[in-house]
Amino acid sequence: MKRQRLHLKAPDNWVNDPNGFIYYKGYYHLFYQYFPYGPRWGTMHWGHAVSRDLVTWEHRGIALHPSVREDRNGCFSGSAIEEDGKLCLVYTGVRYEVVNPEDPHTCLDEQFESAQLMIISEDGDHFDNQNGKEVIIPPLTDPEIGDRTHTRDPKIWRGKDGWYLILGSTVREQYGEVLFYQSKDLHNWTYRNKAWKGPDYGWMWECPDLFRTAEGYVLVVSPMGLLKNGEKEKNQSVCFPVEFDETSCEMRIPDEYQFVDYGLDLYAPQTTTDAEGRRVMEAWIRMPRPTKEGWIGMFCSPRVVERKGDHIYFHMHPNLKNANSRKISDVSEASDEGYMAVFDLEEGETAEIGGFIIKRENGRIITDRTNVYPAFEGAHLVSETPEIKDGNRLEVLVDQNLVEVYINDGEYVISNAVYGIGETISVSGEKEIQLYTMAE
Ligand code: FRU
Repeated sequence: MKRQRLHLKAPDNWVNDPNGFIYYKGYYHLFYQYFPYGPRWGTMHWGHAVSRDLVTWEHRGIALHPSVREDRNGCFSGSAIEEDGKLCLVYTGVRYEVVNPEDPHTCLDEQFESAQLMIISEDGDHFDNQNGKEVIIPPLTDPEIGDRTHTRDPKIWRGKDGWYLILGSTVREQYGEVLFYQSKDLHNWTYRNKAWKGPDYGWMWECPDLFRTAEGYVLVVSPMGLLKNGEKEKNQSVCFPVEFDETSCEMRIPDEYQFVDYGLDLYAPQTTTDAEGRRVMEAWIRMPRPTKEGWIGMFCSPRVVERKGDHIYFHMHPNLKNANSRKISDVSEASDEGYMAVFDLEEGETAEIGGFIIKRENGRIITDRTNVYPAFEGAHLVSETPEIKDGNRLEVLVDQNLVEVYINDGEYVISNAVYGIGETISVSGEKEIQLYTMAE
């Protein structure tokens, strides 16, 4: 399935993190971690999808594949910038020191090393995997800076004084940290500083992202081993309103964080600026098993990130709202791609969307996917937000594999993977439900 609307899904086999998300020469480019040989994680490639509007996507095949010593076992996550009209990708190359004798696509006992690489494309379409790769940061040798194995996922940006990148790492596999590097020319990089929080914030910080908004900086990280609740997904993406000084690369991180999404399926988000200059985010939605069509992994709807005071909002991107322009009176009239439902949910009320339950209790929004999700041990079925502020409005995007509940214009979002949604919708109290689907 090459052309997709609403939610971008794996073209086949397996996808995880979004990579190299950028608006470049009139197209949004979204690369992603891709395993082309089966519906499971393995030797990582970068798949590539493009869109004019963040709504309709087209898969373009494989952009990066292992081809040099430093990335021979995988092209891990990374990011993109435009320089001189060219598309520049930075990413982590992985080299296994001991390959798993049972499986050439994984390594034995975490024996691998990581380097940071760059590849420049003239047009965003062609990637010279044979001759175009350059190692910009070799595997770390100083444990005081970061880990030789677990240092990855460079996010690059243009700052006041040249180029910067933030990398995820770990302090002795005990707690997560981020590293800052700076460069004048994209080729030579200098380590500048680091920041961390300590043992209660996960043992390794994956996929860091740092950006300035009108009301200050936001740090997004995906700490491994954050949750200790016994459920399957211990790794979660969180965001902090931080203070950051670009000159010294010093960062102050507060104690409190928000989850990027309270469904706890969303992981490894990455942001860029859209055509109008908004900060827009994409993220991987984890799935526990392949669909019956045989693919596994998808991406959330694009979200506009906004910091207001110390709260971080994730609004539904206006392009998506506008694309859902055809008003319908029943979900059976929706296009195959799904629909958007808008309604109010007050304390004590419940909505039912084809088997998926949304309730409001104790000032929180609670979802329950038991009826539309496989049963397995440790399955995360019920999600809930913190107490919400005043406001009752829910905007819900629904398709056969993903339900996204935007609460009070993005004060919080709950996104849940599902496996088939029925053709019904109801809200207690006979409330009015507005339904929209995509115009043809
Ligand atoms: C996050 C992650 C990244 C890594 C990539 C490998 O999901 O583990 O840290 O670069 O996935 O696929």
